[in-house]
Amino acid sequence: MKWHKPPVDLILSENHIDVWRSDIDVSEEQLENYRHTLSVDELNRASLFTFPDKEKEYVVTRGLLRAALACLLNAPAHSFEFCYSKEKKPKLENATSSGLVFNVSHSHGQALVAVSSNRQLGIDIECIRKDVDFKKLARRFFSENEYKSLLDYEGNVLRAFFTTWTRKEAFVKAIGKGIAFGLAEFDVNIDPDAPAEMLATRWQREDAEKWQLATIDSIDNYVATLATDGDEFKLRTWQFHQDN
Ligand SMILES: CC(C)(COP(=O)(O)OP(=O)(O)OC[C@H]1O[C@@H](n2cnc3c(N)ncnc32)[C@H](O)[C@@H]1OP(=O)(O)O)[C@@H](O)C(=O)NCCC(=O)NCCS
Repeated sequence: MKWHKPPVDLILSENHIDVWRSDIDVSEEQLENYRHTLSVDELNRASLFTFPDKEKEYVVTRGLLRAALACLLNAPAHSFEFCYSKEKKPKLENATSSGLVFNVSHSHGQALVAVSSNRQLGIDIECIRKDVDFKKLARRFFSENEYKSLLDYEGNVLRAFFTTWTRKEAFVKAIGKGIAFGLAEFDVNIDPDAPAEMLATRWQREDAEKWQLATIDSIDNYVATLATDGDEFKLRTWQFHQDN
């Protein structure tokens, strides 16, 4: 999977899902450019972060989101207005949306933004870190099937844990719930080298077939998954500053 420079006349068709990526470590100039596109609300929120790294991660992710929307909707990046669901999932205000749906994720220096014209969408990226007690987290959050599969897994178990985490979190973000929904309510496959799959849902069996998961696999030491409903789609991957 490669990250392409977007063409000036980028068009998002119904069967496209676009994923945009950025390093958080952009130049000071780029950071200021992004900051200038943010709304007063977003700047206020940014000012509340105690750690400068977290503030930068928020500004760059929102800046990337706005730049991607500007590209697709041919409107200035500062012109978009967001509103929030009860569970805090942001979406475009109707007036400026043209129906576009998005979701964002950021983790330890990387930002991803997913955009589609009409689907439910969730994306999650995680840095593969050694400083987490992955067995404890898996036992607490994963389903029993996933936990057992993870304990039996013979490959890189840390990569399998974080991959599973992103598969699950991308789904709960797609339905707008976050982990409060209950990550043990459904099973995904845990093998990071196999195509991502929703295996079973405990609330209504047929629902598992409605959901598709896709691995975003080209950022070293990170794993990421996209979750969406609906028919087959074409995944396109973009970045503004090509460095790979
Ligand atoms: C928000 C949530 C859905 C994801 O949080 P996260 O993994 O920390 O963060 P991500 O970077 O992937 O996603 C955050 C973005 O999702 C979006 N978001 C917020 N609430 C959301 C919701 N209910 N549904 C979908 N997306 C949501 C926001 O755009 C947010 O970015 P912002 O705060 O900069 O605006 C949260 O409910 C959650 O599940 N947190 C648990 C995090 C955790 O325990 N991680 C351990 C990893 S080992």
